[in-house]
Amino acid sequence: MQTTIELPPPVEMTMPFSQVLGRRRSRREFSDQSLDLPLLSTLLWACAGQNGADGRRTAPSALDSREVECFVFDQKGVWSYCAETNALKLLAEGDHRSATTAGQDFVHSAPVTLIFAVNQAKTERISGGLAGAICQSVDVGVMVQNALLACSAMGLAAVPRAWFEPQTVLQALGLTSYDPQMAVTVGFPK
Ligand SMILES: Cc1cc2nc3c(=O)[nH]c(=O)nc-3n(C[C@H](O)[C@H](O)[C@H](O)COP(=O)(O)O)c2cc1C
Repeated sequence: MQTTIELPPPVEMTMPFSQVLGRRRSRREFSDQSLDLPLLSTLLWACAGQNGADGRRTAPSALDSREVECFVFDQKGVWSYCAETNALKLLAEGDHRSATTAGQDFVHSAPVTLIFAVNQAKTERISGGLAGAICQSVDVGVMVQNALLACSAMGLAAVPRAWFEPQTVLQALGLTSYDPQMAVTVGFPK
């Protein structure tokens, strides 16, 4: 199986921003249509991608720590998104979407679930105390909102989700020093 997927460049999102906001809604019903790579690439760029040659991102982070990483669960595998190369790296083969459901059965009908996890190796400057924890959660939150607005702009259905078992997600990722905080489940509306 292909272990790296080079993503195509993100596509233009042309919907007026007031419409993007006006249409945003949590949607939990999905058709069986899968996300093609240009749409997936655009979604990942919007929430976790690079928008400058200096490596800066589409979403801000406290002290530019870039400690939140985005993982993709789809029918074929579990993938890590690399902003620098705009590529997906395979972490685990096979359909592990059920590792993110924790009883929310609608997740199975969606082609993609994104997981936003804090990489603890990148939190030295924003760890410790309430302020550190708040910074990390806000950094997750802004990436989630970017993902939701990109879905709205592209006519995709999406729902943000805190309800999953972090340990089950970590097992599927094959990682330990990460803190999965939010999921966004995405597909085409039914
Ligand atoms: C932090 C957070 C966690 C959420 N967790 C879940 C979840 O686990 N499952 C779910 O179906 N919806 C979840 N939601 C979606 C909310 O239920 C939804 O945003 C709320 O009902 C308002 O509806 P709207 O998004 O359509 O405006 C979550 C939303 C937020 C902001």
